[in-house]
Amino acid sequence: MKGLPRGASFTMTHTQTKGETMCGIVGYTGTRQACEVLLEGLSRLEYRGYDSAGIAVQHGGAMEVICRTGRVSQLRSSVEAVGVPGTCGIGHTRWATHGRPSEANAHPHTSCDGRIAVVHNGIIENFNEIRERLAAAGHDLRSQTDSEVVAHLIEEAYPRACAKEGTDALVRAVADTVEQLSGSYALAVICDDEPDAIVCARKDSPLVVGMAEDGAYVASDVIAMLDATRDIVVLADGQIARCTPDALTCFARCGDDLRTFDAQTTHIDWDMDVAEKTGYPDFMLKEIHEQPRVIRDTLAGRLVGNSIQIDELQLTPEELNLIDRVYIIACGTSYHAGLIAKNLIEGWARIPCEVEVASEFRYRNPIITPTTLVVAVSQSGETADTLAAIRDARVKGARVFGITNVIGSPVAREADGVIYTKANKEIAVASTKSFLGQVVSLTLLALVLAQAKGKMTSGHIRQLYTELANTAELVERVLEDTTAIDEAAHACTDAASALFIGRGMGAAVAHEGALKLKEISYLHTESYAAGEMKHGPIALIDEGFPVIAIATRSAVYDKVVSNLQEARARGAVVVALATEGDEDIRAHADHVLFIPPVRDAFSPIVASVPLQLFARSVALARGCDVDQPRNLAKSVTVE
Ligand code: AGP
Repeated sequence: MKGLPRGASFTMTHTQTKGETMCGIVGYTGTRQACEVLLEGLSRLEYRGYDSAGIAVQHGGAMEVICRTGRVSQLRSSVEAVGVPGTCGIGHTRWATHGRPSEANAHPHTSCDGRIAVVHNGIIENFNEIRERLAAAGHDLRSQTDSEVVAHLIEEAYPRACAKEGTDALVRAVADTVEQLSGSYALAVICDDEPDAIVCARKDSPLVVGMAEDGAYVASDVIAMLDATRDIVVLADGQIARCTPDALTCFARCGDDLRTFDAQTTHIDWDMDVAEKTGYPDFMLKEIHEQPRVIRDTLAGRLVGNSIQIDELQLTPEELNLIDRVYIIACGTSYHAGLIAKNLIEGWARIPCEVEVASEFRYRNPIITPTTLVVAVSQSGETADTLAAIRDARVKGARVFGITNVIGSPVAREADGVIYTKANKEIAVASTKSFLGQVVSLTLLALVLAQAKGKMTSGHIRQLYTELANTAELVERVLEDTTAIDEAAHACTDAASALFIGRGMGAAVAHEGALKLKEISYLHTESYAAGEMKHGPIALIDEGFPVIAIATRSAVYDKVVSNLQEARARGAVVVALATEGDEDIRAHADHVLFIPPVRDAFSPIVASVPLQLFARSVALARGCDVDQPRNLAKSVTVE
């Protein structure tokens, strides 16, 4: 059978397994007090998730290093208590994967003599052997991290580098060091002997540098330096940069030599509002309120005449017609978006569709043929399991399509085609607006497949598109009044556990509602297809146990109502998510959250929103930080 054409963008890199990969790096050298710039930058990176933070600042040829477990605010208090003067420094937020969260494991790490400090993101895969060699040579390694070896390797290389003519010694020492490393790294290094310089290097881990009027900035995520400059240099793999207050010099290897080159600058034109709460008490609420805009932007320009266009698929209608199996692979919330899409792809296009968590898909042997379409869904575009699954699917011959929120992310680069959800940067760890962007994008994909398979008339396509576009307005209506949501949340705040149930589309909404609540409120939740209640979960229910039932108008409405009656008869506090106008539901529920009437196919887009608000309200009442829940990171770049 003829297969689907393949894109040429595939780049194979190693699979990340452990190390400091989800962390954040900042650096500054200039005219301002470095500790202030570094702490501001680290605060900007907090959204990624971390459990310790630290800075190292140069002052008159001596290094001050302060590391703390916990929040950047705790680090700030310590820094302010002692005062850390100096205009050149580096900082780091660490999400522990390689050694527990502790001050000893927090970055920056220093050389034995304390004259060199290093922050690192990535994984040094050969760190064990390097560590043994360094220890045998008398180095005093004080942490359990892979990263610390870098400081000691530079310490060894620096005297050799000083003995050579030409390029600055720290640049050469870093270049020699990275030659000894296997794995991935983004590094920022300072040294007492070059007190106003920061040297950076990267491989397979992002790092950007930028010049502003007041000095040079370094960061692993551009958001940390956007206040200072929008013109940045994205370092490529293998490149090294030396930043001083008035110059940025970039180096690339040329045989055994290091050659300088003119780096290309990229202008960032994001609205800085993405990094600000703009009057909202937290990013999560701000992002929930952005959802109508996300729906509109994701749909803009997709209906041409009476047909849906997704040119990024780079498949002709004939090639689309060949697709006979779809796998959707994703993790967490993105997986739930996939569950919704399965109903649409099978219902509309009549193509068998399986949805799998990426960490399972990659370790089994799925049936993949040249006419299989694999759709990888990832907000961050960096999720290690999803990336590994993409690579695996491509090796097995599938055409892989990515749905992501991050332009140029690994998922975007490694898939054959990509749809960008137009959510813009999502800061809160709990995904809300990205989820809606994913659901809308997957809905468009389902429509395109149905169109290519000749399962829908153009009139039907136009009608569905119009209703889909109208969900933006329906979401706005949900956001107008949250009184009932807050009241229901209040009733569940002190619960030990909660059960979410639904059928059909409602089951997927229930799974996502339960995940949202558990990840930000730490309240134990379960979610089940409501028909499964009598097969086990109903045993959980006793007096006061919260059951959140997705009971919107659909073909299975009566069945869900029966399930919630069964729960209520056993003492459950029932919160029903129902369709406006359904006054009968009040007889079966303690709390009712109404959403406007909407076609069942699009109900998850509207029904997910009150559950996001419900989760936030419970979490706030339980005193939780809704933007940065414990133990979670925004990008899960480890297996
Ligand atoms: C979402 O609220 C969660 N934080 C998490 O489940 C997330 O969806 C998952 O880690 C997948 O991330 P991705 O979409 O960036 O691949």
